[in-house]
Amino acid sequence: MLAQLEARDAELRRFAANASHELRTPLAIMQTLLEVARNDPSRPSTELDERLRAVNARAIELTEALLLLSKVDQRSFVRETVDLSLVAEEATETLLPLAEKHGVSVEVCGTAAFTSGSSALLLQLTTNLLHNAVVHNLSKNGTVRITTAAEPGWAVLTVENTGEELSPQLVATLTEPFQRGTGRARRDQAGVGLGLAIVKSIARSHDGTLSLGARPQGGLTVTVRLPAARPSA
Ligand SMILES: Nc1ncnc2c1ncn2[C@@H]1O[C@H](COP(=O)(O)OP(=O)(O)OP(=O)(O)O)[C@@H](O)[C@H]1O
Ligand SMILES: [Mg+2]
Repeated sequence: MLAQLEARDAELRRFAANASHELRTPLAIMQTLLEVARNDPSRPSTELDERLRAVNARAIELTEALLLLSKVDQRSFVRETVDLSLVAEEATETLLPLAEKHGVSVEVCGTAAFTSGSSALLLQLTTNLLHNAVVHNLSKNGTVRITTAAEPGWAVLTVENTGEELSPQLVATLTEPFQRGTGRARRDQAGVGLGLAIVKSIARSHDGTLSLGARPQGGLTVTVRLPAARPSA
């Protein structure tokens, strides 16, 4: 029974990988055609062009996210020793301009926390969490705190943010693919709805866990625990 379920799971992953891979080419062609139209001086850009460009960009994002999701579970990455505190700093540096645009202040604190895994995937995990903490935050004076800690046996990454009050029932569903919350946050910051599913998948492929908790004063606390590793020599 378990073997049958695993085989079906692998089949579904292969299907998602193949389907998203096949969609890449027509979407890239569409993107090029839209660029050619934009640069044609004899044809002024219309509102329809802009909408087509936005829809095309979103479809490309969705396809890339699906492709990543299907690949992560295959665990085909090379492992190295990774310090989560450096990953947190790198993700913060990258997303600082976005945080400034949203009026959100970001604080990074904590100690070195070593784990074994793919530095690229762990950066993707941290970036997705930080991106969420910035865009699904208060519209004014929002804050984000990203913390790393070394606990016995575990390297722990926590991302906490202010925001709307969330019910525990809603929070329990947020890691499901295409789940995008409710209310104002959803309308203003509509993403693809795969960010947390990717985080969960990356954590799982590193033998770790992801937990989400609604903060009583609003916003979310997200914790990723990964098996601890010794620092490399
Ligand atoms: N840090 C957070 N604070 C408050 N709400 C959050 C946070 N992270 C996620 N959410 C809620 O969970 C939903 C799912 O998040 P997820 O990252 O999977 O998708 P998304 O951000 O909508 O789209 P994308 O695929 O672009 O990341 C969000 O739409 C939002 O409602
Ligand atoms: Mg997201």
